[in-house]
Amino acid sequence: MKFFIDTANLDQIREAQNMGILDGVTTNPSLMAKEKITGRNNILKHYVDICNIVDGDVSAEVIATDFEGMVKEGEELAELHDQIVVKIPMIKEGVKAIKYFTDHGIRTNCTLVFSAGQALLAAKAGATYVSPFIGRLDDISTDGLELIADIRLIYDNFGFETQILAASIRHTMHIVNCAKIGADVITGPLSSIEGLLKHPLTDSGLKQFLADHKRGN
Ligand code: E4P
Repeated sequence: MKFFIDTANLDQIREAQNMGILDGVTTNPSLMAKEKITGRNNILKHYVDICNIVDGDVSAEVIATDFEGMVKEGEELAELHDQIVVKIPMIKEGVKAIKYFTDHGIRTNCTLVFSAGQALLAAKAGATYVSPFIGRLDDISTDGLELIADIRLIYDNFGFETQILAASIRHTMHIVNCAKIGADVITGPLSSIEGLLKHPLTDSGLKQFLADHKRGN
């Protein structure tokens, strides 16, 4: 399973990269705004900065919502760096744009996916990744993990190669459960990834080992 970090913060991206477990980065317009990256040129430069930190795929989202606009923006984004994956919203024009990019050898991440039907459409259009937002579903009392399981079943039924990128991850158990279900990728904040490290028995066990070593010397 691939681990992506869901942020536009360069320090956090470096931190995850330095752990040696990072496979890529996802961003979105809200995450860019959070880092106060504004203006087209600054945004484009920021994507290149991210690509220069990580080895894997970096999702860069289009702002246009019409087919022509998405194609124009997506081609500009894809030109920036080999690692860029064009992130397209799950709307009718978006499905058309995904198909266009598939036909032109440009990789895509279909974002804002909240149902199995939407995920089926994204796969039919040839999306490289589909991003079901599990945390946002949980927020409205709907089981986000059940959606991941449904998409896994549907994709396996027909051998769709679109990778399930479980997004809107909020905590470590989302990651563990996505791994159990068979999501291809998770994207989450650094805290959710680092949370996987934590166990009180590891901490107390290590403390004891170090104390015993000190006494023995
Ligand atoms: C996915 O690519 C999105 O950037 C992201 O996971 C959204 O997460 P949120 O619901 O925490 O904003």
